[in-house]
Parts: sequence; structure tokens; C-alpha cells
Amino acid sequence: MAQELQFSALILLGGGGHARVLRDVLEQLGWCSSVLGVLAPRMSAEEQAALALPWLGGDERLADFSPESVGLVLGVGSVGSGGGRMALYRSARERGFGFATLRHPTAWIASKVQLGMGVQVMARAVIQTGAVVGENGLINTGAVVEHDCRLADHVHVASGAVLSGGVRVGPGVHVGAGAVVRQGIEIGAGAVVGAGAVVVRNVRQGVVVMGCPAGEKRR
Ligand SMILES: CC(C)(COP(=O)(O)OP(=O)(O)OC[C@H]1O[C@@H](n2cnc3c(N)ncnc32)[C@H](O)[C@@H]1OP(=O)(O)O)[C@@H](O)C(=O)NCCC(=O)NCCS
Repeated sequence: MAQELQFSALILLGGGGHARVLRDVLEQLGWCSSVLGVLAPRMSAEEQAALALPWLGGDERLADFSPESVGLVLGVGSVGSGGGRMALYRSARERGFGFATLRHPTAWIASKVQLGMGVQVMARAVIQTGAVVGENGLINTGAVVEHDCRLADHVHVASGAVLSGGVRVGPGVHVGAGAVVRQGIEIGAGAVVGAGAVVVRNVRQGVVVMGCPAGEKRR
């Protein structure tokens, strides 16, 4: 089913790698003609050419637009706890802006799935029935969120990671690329799961775990 754009115009926040990936998604969805341009602190001529969207200036230029007339797409990726991504989202929401929720046409989203505002589901990701993805969630390329998982706001499930059934994930968590989380596990707020980790025990909030089986990284 075609996705309907909920805004009359869009602005992309961020001009780096994730923004370029999103530009392709926007094109696939037929939404590119609604994009007014990109807000990013600085963009080289090469970056502007790669995005092929007008550069509107730094984030402060958002004040020139009205939340009634534009929606936002968060084009800033995250590695680790993703604080920058979260802060940008929150500050724009406080100013009344809404974010587009978008699904790549090749993503599979089952029935009875709830996606919060601004969720991005990238190519070939799968979200199974009964799952909930909170606001500003990023379910990256080929990631799998199995049935009945509950993801709080600002969670990034990186490319190829697998959350088995009924996993609970706290706000701001980063699940690293290719990680596997066993069914029913709870991951506390702000934790980071390293790339390729196999998580078989609950993860405390704010810690970094890695390896197989995953253990806490010593500081
Ligand atoms: C786990 C992680 C957060 C640790 O980052 P860091 O604190 O900067 O750690 P460092 O790179 O300094 O490595 C510290 C040690 O942990 C090891 N290590 C790092 N990441 C590891 C991982 N994912 N699995 C196993 N060991 C890892 C390093 O080899 C190093 O070991 P050493 O001290 O014996 O040399 C990071 O490596 C990671 O996996 N991030 C997720 C990446 C990701 O998902 N990318 C996709 C983005 S879309």
C-alpha cells in the first residue's frame, strides 16, 4: 500500500551518510518533490551534489519555517548511544515540529504493529506482529524486530541486528549491527549493544555490552 505523506512539505535534518540513505527512501516513496531542502551546520559542494537537494543553512534556520507548513525527516544517524539524534528530535518537537514516519517499500511490517512519530524503517527490515516502536526509532537495513518486542523512544536497531520475540528495549538504546538478542530480554535505557554481540541476559541501563555471550565492557 502506498504511504501517504502527512505533511505538505518536508525538510531533511542532516547532510551526511544517513541523510543520503534517506534521500533514496524518499525518492522510492515519491516524496522527493516535497522536500524543500537540507538543514546541516555545513555542507561541502560534494555533499550537496551527492544529496542533490538545496542546502538551506544550519539548524538555526529552522526558525524561518512554521511547524504548520513543514514536517521533518531526521537524517542524522547514530553510532553508540545516539545522543545527538535524540537531542535534535526533542528540540524540534518542543518547537512544535512533527516528523514523518517512513518505511522503505521493501520493509515488511506485519499487522498490529505500532510505529511512533518519526520512525524510520529501512530497506528489507522486518517488524513482526504485536511489536511497538516508539518515537524516533530507527530500524536499519535488514534488521529484524520479532513479534511483541517493545521499543521505547529513540532506539536504533542497527543493520542486520535481530531482536527475538518479546524483547523490551529502553529509551535511547543502540543495538549494534548484526547483534542478536535472545527472546524476552530487557535492555535498560541508554545501553549500547556492541556490533555482533549475542545478548542472553538482561542488560543494565547505561552500560556497553559486547561479545558472545555479551558481557559488560569494563571502563
Ligand atoms: C561496542 C562498542 C560500542 C565499543 O566501542 P568503544 O568503546 O569505542 O570500544 P573500542 O573500539 O575502544 O574497543 C575496546 C575493546 O573492545 C573490543 N571491541 C570493540 N567492539 C567490539 C565488539 N562489537 N565486539 C567485541 N569486541 C569489541 C576492541 O577490540 C577492544 O579490545 P582490546 O581492548 O582488547 O583491544 C563499538 O565497538 C560497537 O560495536 N558499536 C556499534 C557499531 C554499530 O552498530 N555500527 C552500526 C552503525 S549504523
